[in-house]
Amino acid sequence: MAAVSPRSHRIGVIPGDGTGPEVVGEGLKVLEAVRSGFDVEPVAFDLGGERYLRTGEILPEEELARLKETDGILLGAIGHPEVRPGILERALLLRIRFELDEYVNLRPVIRYPGVKTLVPSHTEDDVNFVVVRENSEGLYGGAGGFHRKGTEHEVAVQESINTRHGVERIVRYAFEYARRPDRRKKLTLVHKTNVLTYAGDLYQRVVDELAREFADVETDYVHVDAACIFFLAEPSRFDVIVTDNMFGDIITDLGAMIQGGMGIAAGGNINPEGVSMFEPIGGTAPDHTGMGTINPLAAIGAVQMLLAQLGETGAAARIDAGIRSATQKMKSMRAAEMGYSTSEVGDLVVEGATG
Ligand code: IPM
Ligand code: MN
Repeated sequence: MAAVSPRSHRIGVIPGDGTGPEVVGEGLKVLEAVRSGFDVEPVAFDLGGERYLRTGEILPEEELARLKETDGILLGAIGHPEVRPGILERALLLRIRFELDEYVNLRPVIRYPGVKTLVPSHTEDDVNFVVVRENSEGLYGGAGGFHRKGTEHEVAVQESINTRHGVERIVRYAFEYARRPDRRKKLTLVHKTNVLTYAGDLYQRVVDELAREFADVETDYVHVDAACIFFLAEPSRFDVIVTDNMFGDIITDLGAMIQGGMGIAAGGNINPEGVSMFEPIGGTAPDHTGMGTINPLAAIGAVQMLLAQLGETGAAARIDAGIRSATQKMKSMRAAEMGYSTSEVGDLVVEGATG
């Protein structure tokens, strides 16, 4: 009988800038340790601030085409102190999200066992929800412009674009997510319908319409400002949150803090029918770069999400177990303060995942 060759996944790897390469290294180390029954073919991408400063290129067409040929992408971090803010973000990170139509930004907010956070009243079960952030339109669409720039009468317009198609697909994804076995069948729309009476109205109408189709899912609505209070005061009221691009960006930083810090917060830019990209949601952390002091758990969590998206649920579950065992030992997300180096945290996860 001919040997059946194992499944193989082409993984695009964009280490990027700052601490990106260090945390991606740990993510790949853990991936290799939990990999079983499938192969991984890493495809390296030299993209980010370093390349831009060296060659003037941000995302050449041929690189974009190569990204589209992968089965999934792992990104470290993008940003460079010598590059003005707004350039790499738009032309690299947002461009990849848009060109690959990664319309879901999935950001789990999980307080892992034993972790101390800034909210001591939270128990281990309180913080366990996911934010489904719209990732292809809203204020991020780039619509707007200047008028009479630089004069006393300058006008700056920045418009939020919300399409029926865009809102419906994100709300549908969120409803479907709420039905997963590990969720509690509750969907909360977070918006600002009392002020954003057009965009908010569209979101609320779509939720109401789809709620009839998903009659088994309970729906709720919370204004975005009140959601910030509930993240601190009563996070257990949330199971699956659906929200627009800008609100989702902001509340997931707060979400990271109730998990224990940016060092643990992973996210996925998902195109359910295409190529998805996973990343630690924090930045390049210039203060930590090259010191071995950055916490790689968020990047390792990104690898877990990537594997789950590829259907490698066994390997993803092993990473989950590894992260839980590592956080039990670490107690805090400040790796260096707790006496762990970047690679020692990676080793803790490997131990917990394979032991
Ligand atoms: C994030 C980041 C990006 C965003 C920036 C870097 C463009 O803050 O992934 O949350 O706003 O989406
Ligand atoms: Mn952000």
